[in-house]
Amino acid sequence: MFERLARLPDDAILGLMAAFRADSDPHKVDLGVGVYRDDQGRTPVLEAVRQAEQALLERQTTKTYVGSAGNADFNQAMERLALGEDHPALAAGRVRTIQAPGGCGALRLGAELIRTASPESVVHVSTPTWVNHVPLLSGSGLKLERYPYFDPSTGGVQFEAMLAALERLSARAVVLLHASCHNPTGADLTEGQWRELLALFKQRQLLPFIDIAYQGLGSGVAQDAFGIRLFCAQLPEVAVAASCSKNFGLYRERTGALHVISETPAAADAVLSQLVRTARSIYSMPPDHGAAIVHNVLADNGLRKLWADEVAGMRGRLQGLRQQVMQHLAKACPQRDFGFIATQRGMFSFLGLDAQQVLELRTRHHIYMTDDSRMNIAGLREDNLEYFAHAVARVLKAR
Ligand SMILES: Cc1ncc(COP(=O)(O)O)c(C=O)c1O
Repeated sequence: MFERLARLPDDAILGLMAAFRADSDPHKVDLGVGVYRDDQGRTPVLEAVRQAEQALLERQTTKTYVGSAGNADFNQAMERLALGEDHPALAAGRVRTIQAPGGCGALRLGAELIRTASPESVVHVSTPTWVNHVPLLSGSGLKLERYPYFDPSTGGVQFEAMLAALERLSARAVVLLHASCHNPTGADLTEGQWRELLALFKQRQLLPFIDIAYQGLGSGVAQDAFGIRLFCAQLPEVAVAASCSKNFGLYRERTGALHVISETPAAADAVLSQLVRTARSIYSMPPDHGAAIVHNVLADNGLRKLWADEVAGMRGRLQGLRQQVMQHLAKACPQRDFGFIATQRGMFSFLGLDAQQVLELRTRHHIYMTDDSRMNIAGLREDNLEYFAHAVARVLKAR
């Protein structure tokens, strides 16, 4: 039967990674893959993670199953990381969490839950949104639609257009929001905008599904969860998909969690029972190692402080790089305003080049990014900023 299957084209990012690896030019720069890199171009194991892992290896006495909901201590620690220690939804017993295989697993579990509760639901995603949101959410059978979000002319959020579109949605429509460090644009909502959105979500009875994949890498661990904490305190139902890939550097350990806030503790119990059944029907149980590490880090005051410092280091590097990229581009391309790069947050920005210019950057200057000109800021280093800015200037001048 498999001979009937058509061969699908390679994933664009994987193709880009292979092309980068095959490029022997010493100046090559990888701005494509969405992983954090330090100033040596490495994606290191965090020291807090290394120490927690060491302690885990020494203490672990069994590898027996953990259960479909995952590690309960990890789930609780993740709830507090997203919501803060004394959140009213926690005190009211309205939050349930299932450990998930990465943020992707959490997004898919959330989509499956929504489809089970309401098969006709439509999920509204930002224009643009992370490319994987589309297969992860629509793979559950939910329909996807778009709302305006990014304004390429300012590099910020088209907030009025976003509000106007969301105002037209019918009650119980699902709206996917990025908590912070919007992927792929870097354009985040301000606290004031979160508040305005809250009023709209209340009035229109919309269900927020919030993706938090970069907590701590934007403005701070608590600041990056501002919208989540606000919405979960004031709305009857919220779903939150959290990833530990970037902020704990646990990418391949597939560590994440889905938090669901329900109107009552009884509804919350029903939600968890459904999530557990879904997990059993897909992969049965999540991988343990990353979750056990995260729990060890968050439960130990010393390791937690070390982790917070390491996250602050990543955040500081991203913010510093954003300033420097903006300054180098301002010097090399005075005719174009790249100021938005410094005000955006997280790992990504759109450079605003067309596909032909992106191709030219790749073929002539060995600088790799996706065709939509999304660049991973962390792929730059102080010693190649000038090279990068001059390459962008040459590509822009070629027009
Ligand atoms: C916006 C967004 N959501 C979720 C994820 C989930 O990542 P993972 O499944 O690796 O935890 C990512 C990772 O790149 C992301 O960028």
